[in-house]
Amino acid sequence: MPQDCSFVVFGATGNLSLTKLMPAFYHLDEMNRLSDGMRLITLGRKNYTQEEWLEIIKKSVSPKARGGLKDDVFARFAKRMQYFAMDADEISSYHELENLLNAENMPSNMAFYLSLGPDHFAKVVRNLNKTGLLDESMGWRRVVLEKPFGYDTASAKALQLELNKHISESQTYRIDHYLGKGMVQNVMVFRFANLLMEPLWNRNYIDHIQITHAEDRPIGSRAGYYDTSGAMRDMIQSHLLQLLALVAMEPPASMDAEDLRDEKVKLLKSIRSISKNNVKSQAYRAQYAAGEVKGEQVPSYLEEPGVAEDSVTETYAALKLYIDNWRWAGVPFYIQTGKNMAASKTLVSICFKHPPKQFFRDSQVKKMDPNWIIFGIQPRESIKVEMTAKEPGLEISTQQISLDAAMRLEGEDSIDAYEELLLDVIKGDRSLFLRYDEVKAAWKVVDPVLEVWASDTSYIDTYPSGSWGPQGAEKLFDHPDQGWRRHINPECATNP
Ligand code: BG6
Repeated sequence: MPQDCSFVVFGATGNLSLTKLMPAFYHLDEMNRLSDGMRLITLGRKNYTQEEWLEIIKKSVSPKARGGLKDDVFARFAKRMQYFAMDADEISSYHELENLLNAENMPSNMAFYLSLGPDHFAKVVRNLNKTGLLDESMGWRRVVLEKPFGYDTASAKALQLELNKHISESQTYRIDHYLGKGMVQNVMVFRFANLLMEPLWNRNYIDHIQITHAEDRPIGSRAGYYDTSGAMRDMIQSHLLQLLALVAMEPPASMDAEDLRDEKVKLLKSIRSISKNNVKSQAYRAQYAAGEVKGEQVPSYLEEPGVAEDSVTETYAALKLYIDNWRWAGVPFYIQTGKNMAASKTLVSICFKHPPKQFFRDSQVKKMDPNWIIFGIQPRESIKVEMTAKEPGLEISTQQISLDAAMRLEGEDSIDAYEELLLDVIKGDRSLFLRYDEVKAAWKVVDPVLEVWASDTSYIDTYPSGSWGPQGAEKLFDHPDQGWRRHINPECATNP
């Protein structure tokens, strides 16, 4: 059982807290993963009575509760929850918070989750430190920072320098919720718990690797954040480069946090930097135009509330990367992500080379397909291996067969990434959190692209909402045989 602690959530009335954090805590409580003495202190600007707040929590947890909200679990959950109205800009509020947290019946361990915009990180941490709440002499004190960590390498560095004055690296938990996803961890388990693939996992046998993250949702009410961020920062710099690191890194010395993160950093540093001259051939951006998503007409990005009318912020970004190390030299990695696309799904697809001699090519009209391994990250969680075999019959003709293991089918309940990550904070396990050098290395990969894009605000390509993205992104492929793999089962696009 994890230790007692006060888990303090800044920005508790915000969307992330209500839709992800609170349901995750509820589920941890239901699974008896929280100690009896664990307290949840939720902070926001507005004034709510405890009753009003619990009503809000109930409304947001109910639709997410697996198997429906259980009254007895919710009653227990509500008992550990306290709402505290404060102005995070005011030092006097921190003194009141300090009094609350240091009261006699409260746990001495504390975690502070900053579910706030990145502009607030430094100020809140500074104020927590001023009031002594980060001093670890009486118990552990941990700070969880939501993404984005900075806006580019320079701003990430400035933020880190400021944080260094108040907290140590061992107290810092930079969250990337993708690392809490079961299937993302499965990429690592599949690679390092099986010997079968390891001899093939390199430039000698792999033609290229793709990562696709598509969403059939628009930006919603997040224009304020998204219009200054864009798809490259929002998804690629963080979640998708993390996925790439897990797919491509060397086996770590152990699964300890530092060993694992050392390998990811080494991999990210081996990515060939994109020169400004190569941005056009290695990166592509576009924005969604009006179109039809899931049978409904939807407006263009420029028509979304809060988006600047001349915005060239990309809602689709694609990138081709090369990893200059012994294992991967010459193998292209293609990454794409977009909002308002045809479907929501995340796939990692490994395409193998053709055998050196294609003996059976003459026996059939169509060209032989290569072997593929597809990791379905979401919504269908699966691992699929595609191979070629003989079709039953007198002639030698071939067919694609596959081993397709579904870990979880679409629609089945799953543990949310935040459940795992919140528990790890309480346990003090930082393996699934980002170290600063990791974040910095990831910014270095995308910085040149962002700079070039920022300098050209005259034009951005568009793609119809509900489509698979812009045609122009196809030009990233090194070879005409390569193309985006959008489905686990291409023969049946409606069954992802
Ligand atoms: C967030 C991004 O970090 O990840 C969002 O800010 C994106 O724009 C989301 O939609 C995707 O996460 P998931 O878990 O829904 O794939």
